[in-house]
Amino acid sequence: MIFGRVKSIDAILATAQKKALPRTLGALQLTLFGVGCVIGTGIFVLTSAGAQKAGPGLMLAFLIAGLICIVAALCYAEIASMLPVAGSAYTYTYSVMGEILAWTVGWALVLEYAVAASAVSVGWSGYFSGTILKATFGIELPSWLAGAPLAFGGIEGGLINLPAVIIALLVTWLLMIGTSESARVNAVLVAIKVTALTAFIVLTLPKTDMANFNPFLPAGVFGGFGTGIGAVGAAATIFFAYVGFDAVSTAAEETKNPQRNVPIGLIGSLLICTVFYILVAAGAVGTIGGQPIMGPNGIPFPAGSEELARQCAMAEHSAKLVCSNEALAHVLREIGFGTVGNMLGYAAFIALPSVILILLFGQTRIFFVMARDGLLPEGLSKIHPKWGTPYVVTAITGGVVAFAAALLPVGKLADVANAGTLYAFLMVAIAVLILRVKEPNRERSFRSPLIWFVAPATILVACSCISTCPLMRCWCCRVGRS
Ligand code: ALA
Repeated sequence: MIFGRVKSIDAILATAQKKALPRTLGALQLTLFGVGCVIGTGIFVLTSAGAQKAGPGLMLAFLIAGLICIVAALCYAEIASMLPVAGSAYTYTYSVMGEILAWTVGWALVLEYAVAASAVSVGWSGYFSGTILKATFGIELPSWLAGAPLAFGGIEGGLINLPAVIIALLVTWLLMIGTSESARVNAVLVAIKVTALTAFIVLTLPKTDMANFNPFLPAGVFGGFGTGIGAVGAAATIFFAYVGFDAVSTAAEETKNPQRNVPIGLIGSLLICTVFYILVAAGAVGTIGGQPIMGPNGIPFPAGSEELARQCAMAEHSAKLVCSNEALAHVLREIGFGTVGNMLGYAAFIALPSVILILLFGQTRIFFVMARDGLLPEGLSKIHPKWGTPYVVTAITGGVVAFAAALLPVGKLADVANAGTLYAFLMVAIAVLILRVKEPNRERSFRSPLIWFVAPATILVACSCISTCPLMRCWCCRVGRS
């Protein structure tokens, strides 16, 4: 079904050539770019929430979320190899299903990238206030300067999250001054992050105790429909740890030999991250244990709830994985590697901005292409004569990201980002199938294996996840009541 104007693949490729961004990124840079985006707040901050939902089944949750992303990545890789231009799912939808659906995808991608960038800014702010200011320098930021005024449940509270605003604006400036400088900075930050996670795995895995994996699934696999617990419930949360791998495809227009390098970047970065996440989860749960804190009815207390916060304040629970805001550093301290634990905390503090950088990069490139296509004002696609970047759209996006980061809590932002990502997965999978039927002979330098299984699986999972994600559940409940 086609809605509105369609821009043919040939027309999209021709436009991109006329108003092109310089091609500076190679396969390695692109893979680093993906890893830089993918490893972040999800593993450093949301691991505790995942364990509270699934216990040791957190490992299975990472596997489930990783598999969902890998099947979606195969779809992205195939279509990006046909359309190696900026814009990702937005551009693919425009060429296959028309501008109306493309416009909706453009805004879903705003949710994915911009809102996720806000979420990571808020996650970084927690490390900055806790690990750096308080633990290192003994300075306590007043809560009105470091809390979200629009938090649920009244656990957080404040006027503005100032550190989150500052980091979002700083990263925006870095992006405005040029892609290659940003990519170089990113490569260093990715190295820090990967080193920290490798050290964690090497130090924890030899100390695991098999007894800590029993029971492996204390809340089951599904946890009951709509409960948001169990391995599937945890997968819905830690899905955020994979958000952003598709940013690789948004950089296609700035990539050398994109037909080869984009699939390598997409699938390579995802495989690397999946392996890291499962090993990190095994190390965390296997050493200090990761059983959820159960409510009186034998069901885990909801992650992020006031009840759980109350339980965690008790001496008997305070050292548990599920109660920690710095899960990985906490595990290392508990097993006697205090100094390494603190260094891991610093690594997270230093490296999380690379995630914000890539998310913002992806977002600005989508707005850039929407403006170039006339779905946003033309002035937004202006490229800076000296820096070679779409500086107008970058500045506006950065301002909005900083605004959301100032006001909202990380969990709420992550839920919204997950919903946007899944909608984009859905559209890309549909577009790939339509192109296989309508344009079977067009050159594809990457052909997904088993596409008639891979794309329908992506569609099915995206639909079922969107319908059970907290944002949609909330909306559905309201509709059901009215
Ligand atoms: N996947 C990214 C993170 O976990 C967004 O921070």
